[in-house]
Amino acid sequence: MVKKPCISLDDLRRQVEACRACPLCEGRTNTVFGVGNPQARVLIVGEAPGKNEDLQGEPFVGAAGKYLNELLGLAGLAREDVFIANVLKCRPPGNRDPRPEEIQTCTPYLREQTRTINPEFIVTLGNFATKFILKTDRGITGLHGKLQMAGRFKVFPVFHPAAALYDSKKRVALEDDFVTLGHLLKQAASAD
Ligand code: URA
Repeated sequence: MVKKPCISLDDLRRQVEACRACPLCEGRTNTVFGVGNPQARVLIVGEAPGKNEDLQGEPFVGAAGKYLNELLGLAGLAREDVFIANVLKCRPPGNRDPRPEEIQTCTPYLREQTRTINPEFIVTLGNFATKFILKTDRGITGLHGKLQMAGRFKVFPVFHPAAALYDSKKRVALEDDFVTLGHLLKQAASAD
């Protein structure tokens, strides 16, 4: 089988910036392509930009982002080590849930980002990212902290940090899961 060539992240970013494929483009201040190490071992996938992300054009810059940086530390990672992207590249109005047709229209970008970055691990934050990456209907409550495979990628689903901010049970589970992620990363590196 002939493999499709990867699109560079710069070309993909330009495509996202110019995208008018769905009505979310009307309300955006900025597209939020993603940020981080283009050769990351770990790709973090969130849901969609919120207000701060839309204003700054960068994912996870608000309260959930500050918490995500702390969580990464529990796994021995810094924000600069990973690549952070979302299922949707534009903010849904009022931070409502992404709609199925928006996910369908937008996710070819995430798919190409994943092919280009070619991470070893994909950490999915919450239900939307997990369901899209794993092509499952199973919810995050049953899947979090359990390593899965999607093609050649190791997928580690966890609760969304924004959902855990005000729910102490989820917070404990999320922090435990990031500690586990650190162990999985070490194990995989020593098996290389
Ligand atoms: N929540 C997300 O899922 N993504 C962001 O970029 C910010 C908050």
